[in-house]
Amino acid sequence: MIVGAGYVGLVTGVGLARVREVRLVDRNPSLIEKLKVGHMPIFEPDLETQFKENLDKLAFFEELDDALADGRPELIFIAVDTPKSSSAASARNGADGNSADLAKVRAVIDQLLDRSGVAAVMKSTVPPGTGAAIVAEAKRRGSDLAYLSCPEFLQEGSALASCKEPDRIIVGRDEPSWASEALRELHADAYPALDESSVKPQYMEMALTNAEMVKHASNLQLASRISYANEIGNLCEELGADVTEVMAGVGADDRIGPSFLDAGIGFGGSCFDKDIRALKSVAKDRAQIDISLVDTVLAINEGQVDRVIGKLERRLGDLEGIRVAILGLAFKPDTSDLRGSRAFPLADGLRSRGATLRAWDPRADAREAAVRNPSSNGSPEWMAEEEVASTALGAIENADAVVVVTGWPEFTEIDWCEAATAMRGRLVIDGRNLLEPEAVREAGLEYEGTGRESRGLFRPLPQATPEG
Ligand code: UGA
Repeated sequence: MIVGAGYVGLVTGVGLARVREVRLVDRNPSLIEKLKVGHMPIFEPDLETQFKENLDKLAFFEELDDALADGRPELIFIAVDTPKSSSAASARNGADGNSADLAKVRAVIDQLLDRSGVAAVMKSTVPPGTGAAIVAEAKRRGSDLAYLSCPEFLQEGSALASCKEPDRIIVGRDEPSWASEALRELHADAYPALDESSVKPQYMEMALTNAEMVKHASNLQLASRISYANEIGNLCEELGADVTEVMAGVGADDRIGPSFLDAGIGFGGSCFDKDIRALKSVAKDRAQIDISLVDTVLAINEGQVDRVIGKLERRLGDLEGIRVAILGLAFKPDTSDLRGSRAFPLADGLRSRGATLRAWDPRADAREAAVRNPSSNGSPEWMAEEEVASTALGAIENADAVVVVTGWPEFTEIDWCEAATAMRGRLVIDGRNLLEPEAVREAGLEYEGTGRESRGLFRPLPQATPEG
């Protein structure tokens, strides 16, 4: 059984339905209604197809008690969200605004502590130490609740693939128990090669706090790699070097490896920022340790948006009245998830300087979500209706500059000659190093990459052509 039908819950549920009957529980009635009629509420490659193919193995409930009524499910995966604490809640609790809000996790645990013969399997990202505290509480209250940690490592945009072919399965447990045995059996059914040590996934059982640390330490490593690539990329811009070649060389060292070294406008999404802040918060509260690496990684990430604005100002002067086309609203390709997308701080920075903007994303649901009233979806990420175009060319038309924010392959199909005719200005800033610089230049436009093919903020700009 899975509690929480968000990204993690839905993908895990569909993945496990290949080998088990799965009950999905979520307090959101309209979400459960949609699922019951076979409608998949989120977009992920292949997810809807697999969901429909396995619909007979999936059952949906609004109430945990109803899903547990026949006493059958023993392993209860908790996949509710653990957002950053709201500033009001943090102030009330004397916290620093970086801590995770565990209210939903707490509500599920409270219900399970009174039950017998069940195991909570924590998929939600909870701060290190949470599991040990729950186990201690269960003992104190005389509850026989078994508790395991099984952190999730899926990547949006390829979530089902991450779920079907994980590198590793990390299981945190207090001590071996019927529950850790049942979880291993479930994984052995889902991944028949589990016991072959040379084949992925590796199955690693460890202490609870270690498993929780693996999740946070992994996200800090990945976010640090991106900020590292960005800092080196910024230096490459000023030295006339090419960060893509530099990182290819760096990543060719087996000890370093090539992934997560793509320089760009920075990382978005709902996890890196939240999880590394939560790690910092735990370190400060529980160990008086200041993980300053987190501040550095976040500062570099924020600075990438400022750098794009700096490049626009350098080329175009005062941005008052300037029109900018933003290509990409989703935080990464192959998702319609807007959370943490770099498009929004960029939009804020442009608006505050008096620029106007028009954005486009290949996914209609991402475009729709961006113009939803921010107070109705609780998201700080929004665009006014007139700021979102229905086609790429609609966004580009009359623009003084274009900025690529998301690495959607669709942007490589843009006809830059047609774009050049439609634009008012000539500048194209590629925040994902996605486009062919030559194709853009041949259309008579100026190309600025990120960490490559760029004049940075200080190197002399090329002489303008007489007609330019
Ligand atoms: C991330 C981790 O990769 C997952 O392992 C983890 O399970 C997940 O967070 C989570 O904690 O739930 P996700 O945020 O879905 O997954 O997506 P990523 O592929 O990690 O991309 C995050 C952001 O980093 C995107 O905005 C992407 O464009 C950016 N990125 C990624 C770069 O700027 N450079 C890179 O080299 C790689």
